[in-house]
Amino acid sequence: MQPLQNIIFTDAHQKWREMAREIAIKHLLPGAAKHDQEASYNEGAFSAAAEAGMLGIWIPKAYGGSEDGITGLALVVEEFSKADPAFGVAFAVNALGSIPLIVGGTEEQKQKYLPRVASGEAACAFALSEKFAGSDAGGLSVRAEKGDGTWTIRGEKKWTTNGSRADIISCFAVTDPESRSRRISAFIVEKDDPGFAIKKIEPSMGIRSVPVCETSYDGVVLSDDRLLGGKPGLGFKHSMMTLDLARPGVAAQAVGTAAGALEYATTYATRRRQFSQPIAGFQMVQAMLADMGMQTEAARWLVYLCAAMADSGSKKVTKIAAMSKCFATDTAVKVATDAVQIFGGYGFMEDYPIAKFYRDAKILQIYEGTNQVQRIVIARNLVKESADFDYLSDYIPVETQSTFGGEYEIANTSAAAAAAAQD
Ligand code: CAA
Repeated sequence: MQPLQNIIFTDAHQKWREMAREIAIKHLLPGAAKHDQEASYNEGAFSAAAEAGMLGIWIPKAYGGSEDGITGLALVVEEFSKADPAFGVAFAVNALGSIPLIVGGTEEQKQKYLPRVASGEAACAFALSEKFAGSDAGGLSVRAEKGDGTWTIRGEKKWTTNGSRADIISCFAVTDPESRSRRISAFIVEKDDPGFAIKKIEPSMGIRSVPVCETSYDGVVLSDDRLLGGKPGLGFKHSMMTLDLARPGVAAQAVGTAAGALEYATTYATRRRQFSQPIAGFQMVQAMLADMGMQTEAARWLVYLCAAMADSGSKKVTKIAAMSKCFATDTAVKVATDAVQIFGGYGFMEDYPIAKFYRDAKILQIYEGTNQVQRIVIARNLVKESADFDYLSDYIPVETQSTFGGEYEIANTSAAAAAAAQD
């Protein structure tokens, strides 16, 4: 009988996972605390990942990648995050920043930039959020104005993860303020473009070894060929399509975070003795470990499912990406919190590794769409799908409901849902 992993993952996927584990043990575990304390980027680990070809995992072969997809990305990010959750995002943000080129770039743009990303020569960032536009990604105010063969970008972006380490920034700006659905366009900004600057590196609670930045665009003049896809107005769609494919990366970071915290907690529980026995012998600790294990495993397989759906081009990836991001990141926070509890007083101290997992975990529920936004996306998609459940209509009697003293008829719930989905 074949091992399960041989059925689910290709040889290449398994090779990436093993290589990531080796890099994690050699380059991440020993320096994770130091990089966190010093807020310094782990260049050694990034170089090792680049040398191994890992920055090309999600990039098509035609542009220098290995085309091992979101599944390859997820397996590598999970292994990195087990050792150091902050490096999980330091790596995965390169996918977030380059996927706009894959989903929306012109052939020339792909040829120009993707091989540089795949080789590790060019690191990436994704500049969507602004001070006054976080969850409301359509409400941007950074402006790009059309000139003669050029676009000029003005404004500031907030929470650009990897901002000061990136060579290429996918930047979203308003090109048509009057339009509702075609208001935004994406641009490829390079770090040396005059007018582009890092305004501030944010002091943060966790993932401190990754620079999260305020970036400013003070009249950055770009030639037309930097407009993603060559046409204005496609930016919002490109950002959403990118997030559909990048959220499994955050979810994988969360699985790695949970798995790493669990490994530390179980190891500690078998060594820490109280009342003359290892605390792993106490049923209350066992129950915590059991729940942590169950939740981590469930999250892991939801993420693998999502990655496989992304790689197969499934139309339902939006819903599953939101589910995997939300479930896995809620799990990571819960498991990391329980891991601190198992470590007790030591867990609260920074000279033990578990406090960092707890701090690093929290952002997972916030970035790449808060978990409240994920639940909106999930619910909207469930309601849309209910249009397929016409066969249930006979079992839902037409009924009247009293509301605010008046009455209205719920004649056909699925038809109403379909209409709502079209609105
Ligand atoms: N794929 C393709 N198109 C999509 C789409 C998707 N997944 N989701 C929406 N669209 C399209 C819609 O079809 C619609 O198109 P039309 O106008 O042609 O009909 C259009 O986009 C607008 O869609 P909505 O009406 O659903 O948009 P909305 O304003 O209601 O917003 C939202 C929806 C889900 C809340 C969205 O704004 C969202 O995802 N917000 C969160 C943003 C986010 O994740 N930010 C994090 C940025 S990255 C980061 O964290 C920093 C970092 O560096 C890590």
